[in-house]
Amino acid sequence: MLTDPSSKYRPFPPVALADRQWPNRTITQAPIWMSTDLRDGNQALFEPMNAERKLRLFRTLCDIGFKEIEVAFPSASQTDFDFVRRLIDEALIPHDVTIEVLSHARAPLLRRTVEALQGARSAIVHIVNATSQPFRELVLGMSRTEVLTMAVDAVRLVKQLTADQPQTRWRLQYSLETFTATEPDFAVEVCDAVSAAWGATPENKIILNLPSSVETATPNVYADQIEWMHRHIARRDSVILSVHPHNDRGTAVAAAELALMAGAERVEGCLFGNGERTGNVDLVTLALNLYTQGVAPGLDFSDINAVVRDFEACTGMAVPPRQPYAGELVFTAFSGSHQDAIKKGFAARQPGSVWNVPYLPFDPADVGRGYDAVIRINSQSGKGGIAHLLESHYGVVLPRRLQIEFSGIVQQHSDRHGGEIGAEALWQLFAQTYLHPAKPLRYLSHQLFEHTQDQGIQLQIKWNGEPYDLTGVGNGPIDAAVQALGAVSVRSYEERSTGSGGDAMACAFVELATANGQTAYGVGMDGNIVTASIKALISGCNRLANVTDFWQHHVIESGGFIADSTPTAGAAVNPTP
Ligand code: KIV
Ligand code: ZN
Repeated sequence: MLTDPSSKYRPFPPVALADRQWPNRTITQAPIWMSTDLRDGNQALFEPMNAERKLRLFRTLCDIGFKEIEVAFPSASQTDFDFVRRLIDEALIPHDVTIEVLSHARAPLLRRTVEALQGARSAIVHIVNATSQPFRELVLGMSRTEVLTMAVDAVRLVKQLTADQPQTRWRLQYSLETFTATEPDFAVEVCDAVSAAWGATPENKIILNLPSSVETATPNVYADQIEWMHRHIARRDSVILSVHPHNDRGTAVAAAELALMAGAERVEGCLFGNGERTGNVDLVTLALNLYTQGVAPGLDFSDINAVVRDFEACTGMAVPPRQPYAGELVFTAFSGSHQDAIKKGFAARQPGSVWNVPYLPFDPADVGRGYDAVIRINSQSGKGGIAHLLESHYGVVLPRRLQIEFSGIVQQHSDRHGGEIGAEALWQLFAQTYLHPAKPLRYLSHQLFEHTQDQGIQLQIKWNGEPYDLTGVGNGPIDAAVQALGAVSVRSYEERSTGSGGDAMACAFVELATANGQTAYGVGMDGNIVTASIKALISGCNRLANVTDFWQHHVIESGGFIADSTPTAGAAVNPTP
């Protein structure tokens, strides 16, 4: 039994912001993106990336379009230091990309950090120190003043060290680690002090990063904190306000979105939400969320599968099947009613129109996914999805009542065997049921002949392996074949062609009925439409139990109709000699 949580957990008091503006805002442009995959993301892996993997992921991030990439924590490990050196020494950084590196606010670490960056064309030094009361007291053992002094001293030192290397375009980022648990007045005091120490100007802005290092409140609380800072920090025009949401409550994406509405201009995060514990905010979701609102994100995820492959190969992490925009199943509907609606949505689509397909908030093609996976079949699926799969994979468009009939057969099959039925297995089931059933009646050949004003047919079939010769006369070849077969009438008939050019096949669908009201569909495919129709009739007869009974009792056992050498309208049957 869970204990009463109110004695154990307390919500952090939200900032007082009765006149908050962010709920009335919408996001109309993409933020500045900063990928921390190679730093925050890398720190959180079972096995941090080696240089080759880091380089591969760095290249992927550049290809996606990130212009700011935190590549390492060079004062924390030799591997990280060497990686930064390699990027610079081997000129691996595209001209429009700025690398960023993290350091704690301590002099020896800052010296090592600036040393790692020597010779970079453009670099962001990222200084972090924790500012919240629990950290000051429990971890650092420092007063507010001491924490403030530590931050300002760090900024001054970086300013001094970087002044000696004017060939690099230096920028500074300062992060208040544990910002969300920091008293707002103290957060502003620290921010203003470091901005002043850096000498931030509108031309050389400082990046002030306000992380939810641990996400402990609802996203609106974070948004209030960001708006409060946005309204209270000094030199606002000399500051880029940045957010760095973690995902402990599973709401990092929402927190980032509301923070952007509240005045943030920059977001730090990782691909697919990699990062400590539950991860950093997922930049893929954030970017594509913007895209689906009609806002260009400035990041290119048009081949999401390639990004997933690189990410998984480099980090050893797996992208789960329900990961927004990227998971294997996120564009898939199994449920029958959803499939039906999707199929109708696709059918109604006009080229160039606004995307409006039910249950598909996003066009899979925009991330390089095909439509194949949109509809997948299991026991929950319905006629629409089944028809869609046969149509999209095999070009066979089923009449509506046949869709209903066949979906019952698919349902029985999946109830019996469980799991998913792929397009190929579905086609096999369709072919087994209608085209090549292991049933007694088989088509062999036919010949048409004229009979007074009518159409005659000579039809060779097999019944339980024995050949028979049937004769029938009707008002056309199909009617003649119906007469020859006996015991059924045609309720509906449709023909379509599948494929094109030399591959084109005629596909005939007949709905047969017996005298006692039993009905079933038959399907025939052939290069010749008459043959396809006769095959469809035979397929339908095989599916009608009382037709096969009729054949067994009346035609075969009791001698049936004996061939009339001069056929009249009606039927005749002869065992082939
Ligand atoms: O989560 C955090 O607070 C950080 C800082 C270093 C920005 O990763
Ligand atoms: Zn972090």
